[in-house]
Amino acid sequence: MPKIVSKHSLAMRWFHWINFPILIIMTWSGLMIYWANDIYRLGWGNTTLLKFFPQSIYDALHLSYKLAEGMAVHFVFMWIFFLNGLLYVLYTLFSGEWRELVPNRNSFKEAWLVVLHDLHLRKTAPPQKKYNAAQKIAYSGIIIMGLGSVLTGLAIYKPVQLWWLCELMGGYAFARILHFILTIGYTTFFIVHIIQVILAGWNNFRSVVSGFEIVQDGNEKKSA
Ligand code: HEM
Repeated sequence: MPKIVSKHSLAMRWFHWINFPILIIMTWSGLMIYWANDIYRLGWGNTTLLKFFPQSIYDALHLSYKLAEGMAVHFVFMWIFFLNGLLYVLYTLFSGEWRELVPNRNSFKEAWLVVLHDLHLRKTAPPQKKYNAAQKIAYSGIIIMGLGSVLTGLAIYKPVQLWWLCELMGGYAFARILHFILTIGYTTFFIVHIIQVILAGWNNFRSVVSGFEIVQDGNEKKSA
């Protein structure tokens, strides 16, 4: 007999869905700023394997010559990103929801078993509650990355006034690299997250919109 059970709190869903468009706006405006001084590449000497980013990307996304617009948008939305993230972390701590989210000492071993199961190399997945071990690591990691983006972002935004933060982040050039790598990290997380959400199915997606999911008695639960 299928049962409707509550899965995600209203607060978590609001924080999650507010974060999604903000992160897109931050990445989009960040690219407008990065265009003005796009120095990063993978390579050595005069050999470049991969340039971040080829002009064709800026052309396709209409991001060239928009430094001022990018800065204006980035420096407004960064406060919303920060505030939403801060309230989410405080809510998760005080509501006790962190218990479902933070990995424990078995999580790294279990996460490996989850990966093997997802790759169809292992028949059974380790028992889980709300999230499996791989999700706990990924979701907690992305929250720490959010803090990293705010700190490195502030360091390169006001490197003179916040010189101590800039020093703490390894200096202006290093903080800028970290800020960039974190953005690549979000994009990678996002792609994997969406693939997992699609694989987990409609019931799982609906739970992060409506708050509830339908559980079949005795059936194994699959989540993104
Ligand atoms: C179209 C975009 C997105 C969709 C469809 C989506 C979907 C979902 C779903 C279905 C869950 C619940 C998973 C489960 O119950 O097993 C979830 C949780 C989560 N998602 Fe997303 N997500 C999206 C964007 C993002 C973005 C951009 C981020 C951050 C970079 C993010 C971070 C998280 C985190 C941290 C959780 C766990 C939150 C908690 O329980 O407190 N998501 N997402």
